[in-house]
Amino acid sequence: MRNDLSATLTQREAIIAACRVMNRNGLNQGTSGNISMRQGEGMLITPTSLPYDTMEPDDIVWMGFDGSVSGKRQASSEWRFHLDILRAKPDVNAVVHAHPTACTTVAIMEKSIPPLHYMIAICGGHDIRCAPYATFGTSELSENALAALEDRSACLLAHHGMIATGRTLDRAMWLAVEVETLARQYLGCLPFGEPPLLSVEEIQNVISRMANYGHAS
Ligand code: 13P
Repeated sequence: MRNDLSATLTQREAIIAACRVMNRNGLNQGTSGNISMRQGEGMLITPTSLPYDTMEPDDIVWMGFDGSVSGKRQASSEWRFHLDILRAKPDVNAVVHAHPTACTTVAIMEKSIPPLHYMIAICGGHDIRCAPYATFGTSELSENALAALEDRSACLLAHHGMIATGRTLDRAMWLAVEVETLARQYLGCLPFGEPPLLSVEEIQNVISRMANYGHAS
């Protein structure tokens, strides 16, 4: 049976469950990270600085694409890039932002993840770009993230963390774990030097094959 959290839980409950999973599975720590889901003409997003273990459904904040806000809490400090990504990418319904250690280590080095493994193709191209640094919560960070996400479903944020997106929250969470795995593999290679890479053509070939396999987004 497919483990589709969002099918059985309300969107608010699904967001909280995903936050707890990402902290439990080591993808994130403390109150870092934030998750949003498209809802109508806006999004539901985690509140800022609230521990996930005590978060309740009515702590989740609703923000409209028109700038309207409703909720008893203040929205995540990263609401800008969540809103801008959901507005710019109609096929994306969930955005996961976390500070996973391997992704963040690569991002601290201001490196993109190159095509070292064929699974890089799940992000839509031959690399996972690292967006240039900008202060958290700023429109500059949002612009940098959107540029890094062009034709890609995930990116790194320099000196900060990563963003994974998906048609569903389950897909975005799955992608976040896969991107962290690729980052870990990259870090594992680097002591031997820069790894040999697959070609851009081969990654395009893998993307075509994946369309018939189940990894397509
Ligand atoms: P929030 O607690 O405001 O969501 O911020 C956490 C974070 O990861 C900022 O990048």
